[in-house]
Order: sequence, then structure tokens, then C-alpha cells
Amino acid sequence: FSLKNYNTFGIEAKAKQFVAVHSIAELKTILEQYSSERKFVLGGGSNMLLTKDIDALVIHIDLKGKKIIKEDEDFVWIESQAGENWHEFVLWNIEQDFGGLENMSLIPGNVGTTPVQNIGAYGTEIKDTFVSCNAMNIKTQQIKTFSNAECNFGYRESIFKHEAKDQYIITSVVFKLTKRNHKINTSYGDILAELEKNNPEGSGLNPSLKDVSNAVIAIRQSKLPDPKELGNSGSFFKNPIVLKTDFEAIHRKFPEMKFYEVSETEVKVPAGWLIEQAGFKGKRFGDAGIHKNQALVLVNYGNATGQEILAVSRAIQKTVFETFGIHIEAEVNVI
Ligand code: EPU
Repeated sequence: FSLKNYNTFGIEAKAKQFVAVHSIAELKTILEQYSSERKFVLGGGSNMLLTKDIDALVIHIDLKGKKIIKEDEDFVWIESQAGENWHEFVLWNIEQDFGGLENMSLIPGNVGTTPVQNIGAYGTEIKDTFVSCNAMNIKTQQIKTFSNAECNFGYRESIFKHEAKDQYIITSVVFKLTKRNHKINTSYGDILAELEKNNPEGSGLNPSLKDVSNAVIAIRQSKLPDPKELGNSGSFFKNPIVLKTDFEAIHRKFPEMKFYEVSETEVKVPAGWLIEQAGFKGKRFGDAGIHKNQALVLVNYGNATGQEILAVSRAIQKTVFETFGIHIEAEVNVI
């Protein structure tokens, strides 16, 4: 079974067996039936690089549905099943004027995979509105509820990348969103610039959720390739976090290096900048390449293999380390 249409990189890889599940009951049955088989869980396929065929039963999570489960005057609690498309879910909330997800418009993938890497963009992360998720234990088929605290969220990190890795299948997620007094977040410079562009009179910016979402969509479309047109997995690397004590020497050598303070002892450096300075932006090696507008994004021009993209990513890591003494770590799951 070809997985080409099930990963946004558009990599050709074969699954030994493939099954799509549409209900919790179906998922339970499949896990019981194939208890001794190797299993591989596939959501939206938007954050992985397949470098080989999958010698396992691939379970595609296609659980659909979203609903309000609770509300008060100020907030609404929305539960979404794991297989809902993320961006459609964001738009559905904006249409009802439920606030909190608008800065994360147009991120590829499904709702169920968003907690795994605590997706984030333009000053907001999933952990800011995430209440809990339900996940099925692969061995016992019991459903466990993980609270926000139990998920151990960090920058592109959660328990599902560590202690809970390969043990659970996330089946649904609950978010707490605002019904009024929305916390409009325009802290990210690009958003403010985009909003001002759309409001040339500058008559007091008072953007709606929809305005913010539209600004984010415009920025993303100008920088990030659409996976339907050019295979990619968003940022391939994480922005590295460097100790201030180490950064001082680096910054003396490269005074133009951008950085953001993330704690009293650490700074975050944009990996896109490092990769661009290392000369990789827009480069192409066969069908594998580095996007011309955003160096953090590796792209598949058609028939690149996962191995070819992996080789490009390693060459980038090596040159960036040799040039700046900073190691950049992959953000996508390399399989
Ligand atoms: N930069 C360059 N050259 C590049 C790309 C970026 O010099 O080719 C510089 C920019 O000039 C800017 C800085 O790097 O000063 C930051 O760039 P940008 O705003 O594009 O964001 P990023 O740090 O590269 C992160 C996330 C994105 C997210 C944006 C906006 C990570 C790994 N990536 O990228 O997330 O959309 O911020 O919040 O944190 C994703 O995870 O897949 C993703 C796209």
C-alpha cells in the first residue's frame, strides 16, 4: 500500500498493511485483532519524513466530529476528534467567534497530532488553549485522559515524544476558547505589519479573529510552500536554544545573528537565518531542496526519496555546526 498521499512530503513509501479507522470501537477491534503485529500510527502525515517502507500495520486515524461540550459566559470548551483537519477546525471556531486558535491558521495536519509536538505559530502554542486529550493505550485499549499539565508541553515538545511515545493513540482533544474579551495576539511583528497593510488609514487597529487569521494566512502563503503543490513538512528543524554563556562568544563573532531571549539563561536563534547564512537557501540537490522563501523548510520537487531529503538535512546540520558551532535538531519525525 503506497503512503505517498498520506504524507505531506509526498514521499513514496510502502506500508506492509494499511487500515483507516473511523470510530473508537473500530480502533479497539483493530488493536485487539492485531495485538501481536507491529503497528504504526498515522494522523495527518504532516510532520514526518519517511525514509523507508513501513514494515508494520499502518493505522490511519480518521475519527471525525467536533462539538461544544461545555460553556459559560466567557468560555467555550470544544472537543474535536483526532482526524479533523486542523485548519478547517480553526476556521470553524473563528466563524463562531471562538478565540484562541487564530494565530495557528493554515498549519497542515490533523487535530489529533497537534499535542504531540505542541504546534505553534506567531506567538501562540496549542498548550495555551489545550485542556486535555483522550488517548487509547495501544496494549490495553483503555482510554486515558491527559490533562494539560500531564502533557509536559515545551517548545515543540510533549510527553508523546518521550515517556508516552509509541504507547498511545490520541483520539480527541478539548480546547478552551474565548467567547468574548478575545486575547488578540499581535506580538509577532509580521502580523502587525500585515494588519497595518490592510488598514492603511491606521484608524486604530482593532482586529477581529478573522483579521488575525487572514493576516497569518497571508504571511504563511508568502513564505511557506503549500504541501499540495510542493511536498514539505513545515519547519524541518527546531530553532536551537543556546546558553547565554555560550552565545556571547558566538554573537561576538557574528554580531548580525538574530536571537530571542527565552529565559534568564537561554536564547533562541532562528535556524532559518543560520541555514540561509550557511548558503543553503533555495538550493536544490536533485529533487530535494531548501525552500527559496524560508530556509527552515525542506521540499520535495517531485520524486525525492526520504533518504535524499535526510542527506540534505545532514549536510545542512554539518555546515551550520562547522560555521556557527550550533547544532540544529530536526523537528520532523524521521522514520
Ligand atoms: N529567517 C532568515 N532566513 C530564512 C528564514 C528565516 O533569516 O530563510 C529569519 C527571519 O528573518 C526572522 C527569523 O528568522 O528574523 C524568524 O523567521 P520566521 O518568522 O519565518 O519564523 P521561524 O522562526 O523561521 C517559526 C516556526 C514556524 C512558525 C513561525 C512563525 C519553528 C521551528 N518554526 O519559524 O513553524 O510558523 O516561527 O511563528 O519554531 C513549523 O513548525 O512547521 C512552522 C512552520
